[in-house]
Amino acid sequence: MNLAGNLAGKRILLIVGGGIAAYKVLELIRLLRKEEASVSAVLTAAAQHFVTPLSVQALTESRVCTELLSLTDENEMGHIQLSRAADLLVVAPATANLLARMAAGLADDLATTVLLATDKPVLAAPAMNVRMWQHAATQANVALLAQRGVGFVGPDEGPMACNEYGPGRLSEPPAILAAIAAALHPPRPLAGRHMLVTSGPTHEPIDPVRYIANRSSGRQGHAIAAALARLGARVTLVSGPVTVPDPAGVAVRHVETAEQMLAACTASLPADAAICAAAVADWRVAGTAAAKIKKVPGAPPPALALATNPDILATLAAPGPSRPRLVVGFAAETENLDANATAKRARKGCDWIVANDVSGDVMGGEANEVHLVTAAGVEAWPRLAKEEVARRLAARLADHFAGSAA
Ligand code: C5P
Repeated sequence: MNLAGNLAGKRILLIVGGGIAAYKVLELIRLLRKEEASVSAVLTAAAQHFVTPLSVQALTESRVCTELLSLTDENEMGHIQLSRAADLLVVAPATANLLARMAAGLADDLATTVLLATDKPVLAAPAMNVRMWQHAATQANVALLAQRGVGFVGPDEGPMACNEYGPGRLSEPPAILAAIAAALHPPRPLAGRHMLVTSGPTHEPIDPVRYIANRSSGRQGHAIAAALARLGARVTLVSGPVTVPDPAGVAVRHVETAEQMLAACTASLPADAAICAAAVADWRVAGTAAAKIKKVPGAPPPALALATNPDILATLAAPGPSRPRLVVGFAAETENLDANATAKRARKGCDWIVANDVSGDVMGGEANEVHLVTAAGVEAWPRLAKEEVARRLAARLADHFAGSAA
């Protein structure tokens, strides 16, 4: 691996957690210094049981910080300054405890305070016992951190210090070094492109307190927006009401109804591509009541008259000067997936359809099994985490736009 020049002059702040694998960061520091990166380090209290500040200091050739409210540390470089002076923060080993504290946004020691205060990219190299790694709590923390833009390298699979076998080993220092180089120089094949993404459900009001909605969580659409942003695209995400956080590096326009979503989408044009992942309500209530509809004892339930909502995907895909070059729709089907999706592609006038079978636990769930329908035919993808579906779709978009002028 030849990284020469890649990392020269880059400033890495290494946050060392307390795990048996902490000894490997000494080798990582050596590799970074060889690449002429400057390295400073923060050691958690637990880390100091595994590596000494003195050995880290000797290798980094700069002062090692260990305490949050130390008079000398704060005098020489305050924790905010420390968090901003780096080009990249690398957490290694990222223990289950450290990941949990990061996910919770705690700032109870120097390491977590710096991580909370930073405006720089963060790369985490997890290392822990296999069961701890596989625990739902850890997996949820990792998913949340990834959603917020934290990058991950590893863990590797193999025999562990605790005599168990599985994923949980700290990645080897050369692999962490490569991930650092990639994090500092991410490929940006979609730089200069504007991508419009819709996500989440819409809420169609019945009266000021009641609405019609659906079970869409927005996870897939938000993950697509985040994946496109990571490839360098300028992304506008038009989101219905969701509980998932706004993805990092994305301009988000929050809307409630289908009509608002359409207005926000057309106002966001021109775009190179539109990816319509939102589960837009097909109907809205005609004549929303201005006041809460009263429940009158003994009276029959009110009849709701429905009106058809605009089809955002079909509107964006309609021929015209502002049509994005690539329009991608989704098709949630419970039967005849490929046939229905192929027909939907033609009906809506879009270029690609991402079809998924929603007869299982897809709506609101973690994974998705999709078929990509294009002019060339149907491609079945395996069951993947929604983030991975997003990554693959973003890579396909990057391929599609490769070679044509931005
Ligand atoms: O017609 P159907 O709802 O099955 O189509 C799904 C696709 O159309 C999705 O891409 C969804 O975002 C989009 N759609 C839309 N506006 C609507 C209905 C669906 O953009 N009113």
